Amino acid sequence: MKIAMVGSGYVGLVSGACFADFGHEVVCIDKDASKIDLLEAGVMPIFEPGLEALVETNVKAGRLSFTTDLAEGIRGAAAVFVAVGTPSRRGDGHADLSFVYAVAREVRENLEQDTVVVTKSTVPVGTGDEVERIISETGSRHRVSVVSNPEFLREGAAIGDFKRPDRIVIGAEDEFGREVMRQVYRPLFLNESPMLFVSRRSSELIKYAANAFLATKITFINEMADLCEKVGANVQDVSRGIGMDNRICPKFLHAGPGYGGSCFPKDTLALLKTAEDYASPVRIVEAVVAVNESRKRAMGRKVLDTIGGLEGARGKKVALLGLTFKPNTDDMRDSPAIAIAQTLTDAGVTVAAYDPEGMEQARPLMPLVEMCTSPYDAIRDADAVAIVTEWDAFRALDFNRVKELAKAPVLVDLRNIYRPEEVRAAGFAYSSIGRD
Ligand code: UDX
Repeated sequence: MKIAMVGSGYVGLVSGACFADFGHEVVCIDKDASKIDLLEAGVMPIFEPGLEALVETNVKAGRLSFTTDLAEGIRGAAAVFVAVGTPSRRGDGHADLSFVYAVAREVRENLEQDTVVVTKSTVPVGTGDEVERIISETGSRHRVSVVSNPEFLREGAAIGDFKRPDRIVIGAEDEFGREVMRQVYRPLFLNESPMLFVSRRSSELIKYAANAFLATKITFINEMADLCEKVGANVQDVSRGIGMDNRICPKFLHAGPGYGGSCFPKDTLALLKTAEDYASPVRIVEAVVAVNESRKRAMGRKVLDTIGGLEGARGKKVALLGLTFKPNTDDMRDSPAIAIAQTLTDAGVTVAAYDPEGMEQARPLMPLVEMCTSPYDAIRDADAVAIVTEWDAFRALDFNRVKELAKAPVLVDLRNIYRPEEVRAAGFAYSSIGRD
């Protein structure tokens, strides 16, 4: 089966490479010629573990190719996936759908066979209806079904998530669309990954509801962590204790500096916009967005508190370890590290930082921060060390070396990757999230 993937960004590239690995013939299309050139040369435009090898294998096998030419790319394709960006529109937080609609128009102009147009981009409820309207505008003689098929890939674990999904959600309005999607996902279907067939609008909402729910879960445990600190409880124990209830489940209950990334911040805001448009408020998500936003700065203040607070911190130095919104990615979008660094520099603190993959992306976002070549380089002469992202490389710091290099042995662990007894026994003043 031939599949066309329009948009070779994170979602399009990972999905395209995985579909090819399942034996389909896949063409990844992108307007950005420099991106296609890179891909043809075997260079990945994003950092994702395992992706480069997967692309290489499938290109060699002749199942995966790249082009800037949409007309050529979609020729003969049984399914055309739309995986272009839907960023937050400046000013109002609505998802910007201009790229999706532009693709719909281009597909309409170039269609030469019956096809299923599948929206993989995260799009607000009703977008599929509009895509269908655009495509049928000129009365094509070909049969087109517009289907919604949201992705649930986590950065850093995207290939595994694609190949072994908890579920595949298909929002289709007719049997033609459903049947083609069964063929597309047949290899996964045979692996017994459940496929959920629903209406297109339900499918579109599932994506937003899932992300908003996960963001809520994280924000809930983050506020519990604050309460734990006040009442002398341990948030990891509380998390374990509630997570053992099957109805709650232990995942996404790790307290930290607040969620970031390319999905949760954008999708929660877009959901609120939809809720507003339909005069059906989702107050719990409003609270989640506000709490998460203020948490990031609060984390900066937590670090400040260890070096004399707002008043006493001026002129001191903090080492930030980890800048990306989570490990195993180079993605800095809405990373809590940005607000933490800003809070520190606003207070006159010198900030030095190290991240295994995110430095290049981080540099323009935090121009006042000195970027270092290793964790120890950042720690030199620091009055406090703060772990912001839980990269494995920070899980076994050489405490003796840290003490020798730093001005004072102060460790703020915003991801709870160390055991308090252990760090204190090594002679550090140690603070973490939601525990003594
Ligand atoms: C998320 C969804 O998981 C995925 O299904 C969707 O398709 C896109 O958005 P991603 O943004 O890649 O994926 O990262 P994820 O692993 O979900 O983490 C998001 C943020 O939440 C990170 O900042 C992470 O540090 C934070 N987080 C996650 C917590 O603070 N605690 C947790 O328990 C889990």
